[in-house]
Amino acid sequence: MHRVVFLGPPGAGKGTQAAQLAHELGVPHLSTGDLLRSAVAARTPLGLEADGHMRAGRLVPDDLVLKILRERLEQPDAKAGYLLDGFPRNLAQAEALGKFAELDRVVSFDIVPELLVRRLSDRRVCPTCQSVYNLSSKPPKVPDRCDADGSSLVQRPDDRPEAVTTRLKVYAEQTAPLLEYYRTRRLLRPIDASGTPDEVTERVRQALR
Ligand code: AP5
Ligand code: MG
Repeated sequence: MHRVVFLGPPGAGKGTQAAQLAHELGVPHLSTGDLLRSAVAARTPLGLEADGHMRAGRLVPDDLVLKILRERLEQPDAKAGYLLDGFPRNLAQAEALGKFAELDRVVSFDIVPELLVRRLSDRRVCPTCQSVYNLSSKPPKVPDRCDADGSSLVQRPDDRPEAVTTRLKVYAEQTAPLLEYYRTRRLLRPIDASGTPDEVTERVRQALR
């Protein structure tokens, strides 16, 4: 059973690594950011409430995030394990998760802020299939077009500089304390998240052994 959390600052590569490792482990990749962005795109009541918080780079209120995550965890594919990306993000969420799930590992992504800012400012996403690109490390074959479906690539609204500054601050104040929380519970496996995506994947594999 793999019940794993990827913990790390915005732009650390959690989503990139989760897509690869969830496939290898045979468990679903559950990103609260992706679930919330789908709700925003579908204009559900929850999505409409989350939208302003996300654009500004603030955390979405815990009750909304917990609702969307619990619904997802109840689906049959999550019964045999999951890889959580972007949850929990504060102490209250970690404690709520602890009440309904027993984790096996928490992999934390260590990386210097300068690299995060560069990765986030260069990120582009496909609005149709959600594929993620990077102007410097993973450019599309044709500039500004998705390799898979040819859609025009866009920048995530929260990858604008003002929102990035807020997200980094929110991470330091609210999420970073979870490193100690999981270290004392002997679940934490820190990895160096700099280097190429393949190098990082190998470090995550080692951390999950
Ligand atoms: P979320 O979507 O979770 O965003 P995040 O945590 O800020 O992280 P990112 O998705 O920006 O980065 P990532 O680590 O996944 O990096 P990626 O692999 O894409 O959350 C967004 C918002 O939703 C939050 O701000 C909040 O409002 C809300 N939210 C979500 N969860 C919540 C919760 N639990 N509670 C409350 N609110 C919540 O990589 C980044 C870029 O770098 C890409 O372009 C990629 O191609 C590139 N890259 C990746 N790895 C490498 C590498 N090794 N070398 C070079 N480039 C690389
Ligand atoms: Mg992500």
